[in-house]
Amino acid sequence: MKAVAFTEFGGPEVLRVLDLPEPHAGPGEVRVRVKAAGVQPYDAAVRAGWEPPGLVLGWPRVPGNEFAGVVDEGELEAGTEVLGFTAVRAAAEYIVVPASDVTPKPPEMPWEVAGGFTAGTQTASIALEALKLRAGETLLVHGAAGSVGTAAVQLARLAGAEVVGTASASNQDYVRSLGATAVVYGEGLKERVAPLGVDVVLDGAGGEALDLSLELVKDRSRILTLVEHERAAELGVLVSKSGRSAARLAELAALYAKGDLRFHVRRAYPYTEAAAAHREIETGHGRGKIVLTFP
Ligand SMILES: NC(=O)c1ccc[n+]([C@@H]2O[C@H](COP(=O)([O-])OP(=O)(O)OC[C@H]3O[C@@H](n4cnc5c(N)ncnc54)[C@H](OP(=O)(O)O)[C@@H]3O)[C@@H](O)[C@H]2O)c1
Repeated sequence: MKAVAFTEFGGPEVLRVLDLPEPHAGPGEVRVRVKAAGVQPYDAAVRAGWEPPGLVLGWPRVPGNEFAGVVDEGELEAGTEVLGFTAVRAAAEYIVVPASDVTPKPPEMPWEVAGGFTAGTQTASIALEALKLRAGETLLVHGAAGSVGTAAVQLARLAGAEVVGTASASNQDYVRSLGATAVVYGEGLKERVAPLGVDVVLDGAGGEALDLSLELVKDRSRILTLVEHERAAELGVLVSKSGRSAARLAELAALYAKGDLRFHVRRAYPYTEAAAAHREIETGHGRGKIVLTFP
């Protein structure tokens, strides 16, 4: 099978299309013919040399934590359209995962959406649960235009919270369209945000965004950073825990199908252009999700 892979750490240029052996489904597993796979900052970090804790990765390495495609072997009926999650390996023509790590793709969800749907939406959902966000509270989302932020703003609104979302000037309208009060990050952010009365923070930016969060919210169990894991331990703020599940994903996909959770594909690249996709994710700027597509 064709796979986006790398055989040494480095910049986006180390990504190649390699011919790798096709995997096959064992007991309790499904094999999925991948139609689209999301690209995350996580993938760029793995490519650059980060070793995700708890994973033993061989070589060549194939990035990609989220995918959508058609089941062709294993526990589910061949032809079932699914979206799902994994830890790396998704950016390939075939992936084998436990049958419990996929959920049916709603028919109204395009492949490009399905391929990039899992990581940002589940991360946002898990984070808001950990923060115990309640109706009537005001949530500050740093990085509201990003993949996680896009989902977090909308899920918080659905839960009855008010949301303040930070983004660059070019993404203010986008963040507003998701249901948040949009605020430009950078110089003077504290003065713009403090009057809005923040109760809870989801930090998708780190650095000064986390510093400001500590000033705005005294209860550190109401601050969660997706970025600053080491500082989080020192500071006593929350980090995202695992909690991905097919049940959670099915609920999120149902919200999409009902029209309650919008999803913006920033750009879909053919898998042969994975290096360009990584270059774009590494800018750290832009709205919505980058995905790779497979024919
Ligand atoms: N721990 C976990 O489980 C987990 C899971 C997923 C993601 N993450 C992390 O969470 C972060 C966001 O992920 P993502 O997938 O949403 O990334 P993404 O799609 O690349 O989005 C990044 C967003 O950050 C915004 N941004 C850049 N600098 C900012 C600043 N100083 N203040 C506020 N916003 C800023 C950008 O907005 P503009 O274009 O408007 O500048 C962009 O929309 C990444 O660091 C990622 O590694 C963690």
